[in-house]
Amino acid sequence: MRTITLCSGKGGVGKTLLATSLGRIIQRQEKCNVLLVDLDLSVRGLTLLAFQNKYELDQLPFSLTDYFYLEDGDQPELLHALHKGLVQNNSNGEESQEITVQATAGSPTYERLDGLFIIPSSTENERPDWTPLHHLELNETIDKLGKFYEFATSSLPVDYVIFDTQAGLGSLSLAATTLSDMNLIVLEEDDISWRTALNAFMEISTLNKRLQRKSHSYFLANKVSSSMLDAADKLKAFSFLPPVPFDAWVQKLFAHATITVLENGFEGSDFFKQVESRVWQELAVILGVRQRATENSPRSSWWRG
Ligand SMILES: Nc1ncnc2c1ncn2[C@@H]1O[C@H](COP(=O)(O)OP(=O)(O)O)[C@@H](O)[C@H]1O
Ligand SMILES: [Mg+2]
Repeated sequence: MRTITLCSGKGGVGKTLLATSLGRIIQRQEKCNVLLVDLDLSVRGLTLLAFQNKYELDQLPFSLTDYFYLEDGDQPELLHALHKGLVQNNSNGEESQEITVQATAGSPTYERLDGLFIIPSSTENERPDWTPLHHLELNETIDKLGKFYEFATSSLPVDYVIFDTQAGLGSLSLAATTLSDMNLIVLEEDDISWRTALNAFMEISTLNKRLQRKSHSYFLANKVSSSMLDAADKLKAFSFLPPVPFDAWVQKLFAHATITVLENGFEGSDFFKQVESRVWQELAVILGVRQRATENSPRSSWWRG
């Protein structure tokens, strides 16, 4: 099993869109179960994207907000409910890419597409009061998130876990990095975004070194201009993954209906193909699930797309 955390210093850089796209790409390419977890208790972008039906969301037995609010002694019951929910919903690897969201409208499920499971940050229709959770103590958060992680991944045969986090590295985001093989620090071409990404990189490294965890961090520049695409090969030496170009179509899409990211047509979009052929191509090599393309292959020059 492999675990990836998407985080950032600054908000709005594309973590949720990239996490969801990568989840779909990995599920499709590796034909496996992928668990996407919404750790952004404040904005809960992934939850809003994946659970458009408020009634359906309300019926789900488990959310991260509920889990983190509970005292230790009350958690097993909630985890048990999660286990039941995940096991019930596991269609176990049918290859059809039919959209589960629409097919099962009305019956609550964590499985939003075949093999793609999404755990919501909150099941309430209104934005929950998460302020008490904002100051979660780091060691306690690492412990609690670790228990959730162990429980979820032993309830369901998952090959990949992807954490989508809140901007600015709160204790939940930091805790996620301690469970990860790889942290993707997403940034835009913007001074504040770059500087906060660098701080995030250092903070994550210091924590993981102290706890003797082996996660590796990479920068992932998103929404980049053609001039940065041209310069991107130089950044490779500084732990940068292939950058993702600015895409006006995807920006417009998010302005109207984020659910489209889980629909069939999204796989044919230029954005999806860019993330698949550039980012996943490189990530898969780093994670050891693919071999690097040979020098003669057009894919070896990933940084120019
Ligand atoms: N490559 C891209 N090109 C254009 N717009 C993008 C790109 N990636 C993300 N966006 C837009 O940026 C906004 C924030 O994306 P989101 O995934 O919610 O970011 P975050 O989770 O980091 O806050 C959305 O409107 C989204 O459509
Ligand atoms: Mg987000």
